[in-house]
Amino acid sequence: MRKVKFGFIGLGLMGREFASAAARWFHLEDMTVRPEIVAVCSAGGSSFDWYRENVPTVKHATTDYRELLALEEVEAVYCAVPHHLHEEIYTAVLDSGKHLLGEKPFGIDKEANGAILQHVDQHPEQLARCVSQFPFYPGAQQIARYLEEEAFGTILEVNAGFLHSSDLDPAKPVNWKRRVEYNGAYGSMGDLGMHVLHIPLRAGWQIRNVRAVLSNIITERPDGSGGRVACDTWDNATLLCGTRAPGQTTDFPMTLRFHRISPGEKNSWYIEILGTRTSVRFSTKNPKRLEVMEYSGGEQSWQLREVGYETPFPAITNKIFEFGFSDALLQMWAGYLYELDRGRPLSRFAGCVTPAETAAGHAVFTAALKSHAEQKVVEI
Ligand SMILES: NC(=O)c1ccc[n+]([C@@H]2O[C@H](COP(=O)([O-])OP(=O)(O)OC[C@H]3O[C@@H](n4cnc5c(N)ncnc54)[C@H](O)[C@@H]3O)[C@@H](O)[C@H]2O)c1
Repeated sequence: MRKVKFGFIGLGLMGREFASAAARWFHLEDMTVRPEIVAVCSAGGSSFDWYRENVPTVKHATTDYRELLALEEVEAVYCAVPHHLHEEIYTAVLDSGKHLLGEKPFGIDKEANGAILQHVDQHPEQLARCVSQFPFYPGAQQIARYLEEEAFGTILEVNAGFLHSSDLDPAKPVNWKRRVEYNGAYGSMGDLGMHVLHIPLRAGWQIRNVRAVLSNIITERPDGSGGRVACDTWDNATLLCGTRAPGQTTDFPMTLRFHRISPGEKNSWYIEILGTRTSVRFSTKNPKRLEVMEYSGGEQSWQLREVGYETPFPAITNKIFEFGFSDALLQMWAGYLYELDRGRPLSRFAGCVTPAETAAGHAVFTAALKSHAEQKVVEI
């Protein structure tokens, strides 16, 4: 089996999730490639102990990402750092000759994204991709199959979103994700948006214009040391987009919701597609439940389909068992490594977000900021 030696830059929430995915790579069957984490980098050294204890393959730990990038044995880098560092570190990764799996939004703003894409273009031999794991849920993969088969007929309406309630509690201390300086002016769009846009963009739908309503609901939070500090990012973003599907001559409405304050929701990624021949609904809130309505005249009736562990990359888990967040990450990383190894993704919807798709996402988020500021529809 081919082994790809990885360096990790950023060892927080997501770094640990990826380390855990590498540790259970044997969960996947028939893989011809696997990652090995050999080097880690974090701003503070405090996270190194966890990696030393849990990831025995790690040989190098540094607080300077340049030292990690100078290691010849590191072939690919997974980078999970705050958004204001994406441009500096992602471009350095690419210039060092390594493959890049970078976290969203792939640049704090449109300019940073543009700079990263310039470096991607300068290094066509390296694989640069952006993380987005939710399309790897079996329910989403079933929807992807309908898209590939063009089963929807005329698409009438799409509603997609990502809903959290983690910020409902005003007593929750601020962190970098709630500060424009580190998270960016996009607010919740930068945090959640790329996840939601992955399937629409991969489907080839063109988002032609947007009307956005952005809400900063909690404007101040505890700073964690007795004081209070501005919480200046958008908590919730709701977009109505005029969208065109390939082959259709008129736009359909697509609502996109990226909400951090959504009562009752913990981490719900959902998509609903209504078409003249087929309609579907899926949410990670109920990962085994796919709602489908196929219509060819006569009665209309929604079916509830049970979805099990039916994954793009075969795994040891029985197909009747449940699928979850960490399974999606494992599948997505398999998708990245499969593409690195074979030069193409396993299938159209079993690959990570491409740099071009991140640029399309930034175009939507930038237009949404303008739409909200000027209270008008903005063409993209
Ligand atoms: N795919 C997902 O579901 C998902 C979920 C959460 C976050 N994210 C993304 O992952 C990225 C990181 O988020 P997180 O939640 O892991 O953040 P985090 O705050 O938990 O971790 C950030 C890490 O970056 C490190 N860091 C900061 N400055 C650094 C520097 N100069 N050099 C090296 N390391 C540095 C910190 O030490 C920390 O280890 C963001 O882009 C975020 O949008 C993705």
